[in-house]
Amino acid sequence: MKRILSGMRPTGKLHLGHYTGALENWIALQHDFENYHLVADWHVLTTSLNTSSVYEDTIDMVIDWLAAGLDPIKSPMFRQSRVKEHTELHLILSMLITVNRLERNPTVKDQIRDLNIENITYGHLGYPVLQAADILLYKGDFVPVGEDQVPHIEIARELARRFNQTFGPVFPEPEPKLTQFSRLVGLDGNAKMSKSLGNALLLSDDPETVKLKLRKAVTDPQKMRKGDPGRPEICLVFSYHRKYNQDECQEISADCKSGKLGCVDCKLRCASRISEFLDPIIERRKHYEANKDEVISILCHGEECARKVAQKTMDEVHNLIGMG
Ligand code: TRP
Repeated sequence: MKRILSGMRPTGKLHLGHYTGALENWIALQHDFENYHLVADWHVLTTSLNTSSVYEDTIDMVIDWLAAGLDPIKSPMFRQSRVKEHTELHLILSMLITVNRLERNPTVKDQIRDLNIENITYGHLGYPVLQAADILLYKGDFVPVGEDQVPHIEIARELARRFNQTFGPVFPEPEPKLTQFSRLVGLDGNAKMSKSLGNALLLSDDPETVKLKLRKAVTDPQKMRKGDPGRPEICLVFSYHRKYNQDECQEISADCKSGKLGCVDCKLRCASRISEFLDPIIERRKHYEANKDEVISILCHGEECARKVAQKTMDEVHNLIGMG
């Protein structure tokens, strides 16, 4: 059976962008593949040395994974820091790629710009190598991620090839698997939904919060009042209808264009569809919030499963390198 490996940094409660970009795909694919999903907690250190919230953020994120429908039996979930082999493979892979190659990574370039980083650390520049180790350790065939992660998967492919050519065939070349909506626009019109930009709808937002947040969402600036013709194709609220209200899309598009539908009503309809979608997730979330021990034991079980696979791969690696 082909394997899926994917992960997320522990960012706490997830938003709809995480769901549409990746989690939705994890859940859809979990029946047809052997799955491994990791909490990339070491990755936190690349951009912040303050780790005080990592534990809470991990639990909150894993609760959202479970509440959204990831099955802990089919899809072991584990913390990267609890499986030591990640750091070991990272070290070996770091010898197989040049600094120059890492500096050409567009996602890292964007991060340097967005976070205003003047002097990048060795570890931050190299985090795609750690990510490659995450994937290759489990011999992942497919990596379901958002489109910003594609450059990293390319690095993982190059490292797999380089290792195989140098020492012997061990690693398959992983392929990214994108969702149809691999990027969800933020409530302020920013191309990316993100918690730090404050433009996100959380999976745990109750109906009132969803309504309030949508009320403030940016729409077509040319549509000042009901009656004005709108342009659904440039409206972010319409992009949410496309995703969460497919049945009514045509009608909404026509009524927006003709002016029959005003933005206030359109947003209310959108908010109620999104809340219908979130309702079962919020219900399941309550169970895990009241039973955090269960979440921890799911992680510990996942870590045992992951460790077995990781150790087997590292045995092969050691043998090929001649340090068995
Ligand atoms: N870099 C990813 C992110 O920022 C997280 C990640 C770490 C990951 N290791 C991974 C994703 C392995 C896919 C596969 O979200």
